[in-house]
Amino acid sequence: MSQLSPTAGQAQAIAAELRAQILAGTLPSGARLPSTRGLAAERGVSRGTVTAAYEQLLAEGYLRSRPGARAVVAPGLRAAPPPAADAEPRAPEPLSAYGSRLASAEAVQPPRPALADFRFGDLAAEDFPLLAWKRALLAALPRRPAWVGYGAAEGQPALRAALAAYLWRARGLRCTAEQIVVVNGSQQGIDLCARLALDQGAAAVVEDPGYARARDVFRAAGASLLPVPVDQDGLMTDALPAGGARIVHLTPSHQFPLGGVLPAGRRAALVDWAAKTGAWVLEDDHDSEFRYDIAPIPPLAARPGGARVIYLGTISKTLSPGLRLGYLVPPPELVGPLRAAKRLTDRHAPTLEQEALAALIAGGGYEAHLRRIRRRHAARRAALLAALRAGFGARVRVQGAAAGLHVVVWFAELPAASETGLVTAARAAGVGLYPVGPLYVAAPRPDCAGVVMGYGGLAPERITAGVTRLAEVLAQRPGGRASRASAASMTARSNTPG
Ligand SMILES: Cc1ncc(COP(=O)(O)O)c(C=O)c1O
Repeated sequence: MSQLSPTAGQAQAIAAELRAQILAGTLPSGARLPSTRGLAAERGVSRGTVTAAYEQLLAEGYLRSRPGARAVVAPGLRAAPPPAADAEPRAPEPLSAYGSRLASAEAVQPPRPALADFRFGDLAAEDFPLLAWKRALLAALPRRPAWVGYGAAEGQPALRAALAAYLWRARGLRCTAEQIVVVNGSQQGIDLCARLALDQGAAAVVEDPGYARARDVFRAAGASLLPVPVDQDGLMTDALPAGGARIVHLTPSHQFPLGGVLPAGRRAALVDWAAKTGAWVLEDDHDSEFRYDIAPIPPLAARPGGARVIYLGTISKTLSPGLRLGYLVPPPELVGPLRAAKRLTDRHAPTLEQEALAALIAGGGYEAHLRRIRRRHAARRAALLAALRAGFGARVRVQGAAAGLHVVVWFAELPAASETGLVTAARAAGVGLYPVGPLYVAAPRPDCAGVVMGYGGLAPERITAGVTRLAEVLAQRPGGRASRASAASMTARSNTPG
């Protein structure tokens, strides 16, 4: 074996790394390489070493260079296809008990359909208050920013003060700023509460059907799930276990997914049950800002006797899920443990965005934005309900339209077993629907296909077009209207979806 000088060896190693990145497509054709000076400083080698590596790749045809300009990856290079994912299944790494429980929480997002995607949780880009947010960010960027160092685990004082005032005004929830713990979205709030409430094997009550991401957290924590059925009014409190549960996650303002608003009697029963059994009540108030035909209902946390209630709010439905900001309002005895859990998890939520949100809320911009998007969501909802009526009439039943940003649509003529086929056929026609089936655990479900349709991210015209297309897809299914009207033409159709 020939012995390379250290410099030549380093140059070859750098050339080999860059070659591998070009072949893998990480550095695509046309990509500019770092300057020789910059890369040399980063790698702790001489500039001549990097120049030698680049010259090697130029000679091999991987790079192009022009005098005075940085080298770029040569045009026309094709990235090698990635190795087949399942060619040789690899033995699983040894994982913790937590790690091995995560498999069921893995989520694959299907590609976006072309015409209308009724994915719940989506928001429209044009609804984001860009100008107000820019102003709030600028207000949070003083000349000598205080936020360059670490912030407080529980969140920026300005944001907690703004949230305390907002929750009082908007939700009738009286809390102090000191009580609030800012989190990275509801998801982290659920996770932190699970860490504090659940030991392995402890029981956690969830709504059935309910929010899969809360179930996933509890399962990953090693909890045993106690699914409690939901009817049109939300959690059926009569079915709560007599004892033993450590936490219950519920969505009382607008049950996810069926849309019920928990009535006063059940609210009272729930807080009594929590006081008696010692369970924590995690009140997920994810989209209570949007109500259409109903008066606002104060949260459980605002009730007398709500001492076991942990309130959980988010800006994922009002501003953006990408900002990852939410807030917990726990009873005073949980504030310290939640702050500590937050600190250990990720120190604190990003400070600049917290300061910007504080400025937006305190300056009135947040509530002005809410008023504006409430009107837009009301128009979207009206378009969806009108399109469903026009396209399906009495053949569909719409549930949960009084609040929130989604509805559940039941197709009376399609058996539950056809739900996946319906979703696949709609997707092939450019319409994204999401089946209710996976949201159920053990509760009996209606024997007809049901889908969750989110409308918060779609223009009314898209909503109408999507539902119209869906009606066409259904009419063409075997047994659909078109097929009944023209059985002969349907049998000629070899690619009938479903
Ligand atoms: C029941 C429920 N809670 C919370 C959220 C929001 O989650 P996050 O704040 O983590 O974005 C959603 C989003 O769809 C939801 O459906």
